[in-house]
Amino acid sequence: MAGGTFITIEGIDGVGKSTQAVCLRDALESKGHSVVHTREPGGTRIGGEIRRILLDPELKELNPQTEILLYAADRAQHAAEILMPALGRGQIVICERFVDSSVAYQGYGLGWDIEAIVRINHWAVNGLTPSLTIYLDQIPQRALKRAGRDRIEQRTLEYYARVRNGFLEMAERYGGRLVVVKAEGSIEAVAEQVWDTVQRRLTI
Ligand code: TMP
Repeated sequence: MAGGTFITIEGIDGVGKSTQAVCLRDALESKGHSVVHTREPGGTRIGGEIRRILLDPELKELNPQTEILLYAADRAQHAAEILMPALGRGQIVICERFVDSSVAYQGYGLGWDIEAIVRINHWAVNGLTPSLTIYLDQIPQRALKRAGRDRIEQRTLEYYARVRNGFLEMAERYGGRLVVVKAEGSIEAVAEQVWDTVQRRLTI
């Protein structure tokens, strides 16, 4: 990834990932960094088509293995078309969601084989791994008040509790990369914690 820095922002729906990604982008740009802000699923034209299928509440018959592979397919296109080229140019990439979302939502949430999900995704992105992952933590009861009702968001609170638990377990397991930031308080207060974490963990 020649010179670039890859930061991912994770969290359950409604926790404020996009708002925090914008705050972080602005803070980095004001320090003179060149930043690419993107997201999964849907960070490319092809990914936009895949996102439409993944989130369509009408497509109730979507098989879980198809779901896992569609997220991985979106990610493969995104890595090849956006992430790797930006990192190759030495830019900072802020990506809302990456492989950890598949492990949390499809692995911990739906109960599918985590090792298989990691292996499929590792192959899909040629081993690309974030330098730093900020996990914004909030209880589902609170976060979901801000979420919509797409195909994933129609899942139960128990499902989201498993997803959150998955992120917290990953934070314990991959503490060197994945940092928990409590998404409590004002947007500015959370943004400050995110900024502190980035400055503490990365040499940029
Ligand atoms: P978004 O609303 O954050 O853009 O993400 C769309 C939905 O897709 C969200 O409910 C989380 C879900 N998701 C997964 O289930 N697995 C994944 O790998 C990713 C990237 C997202």
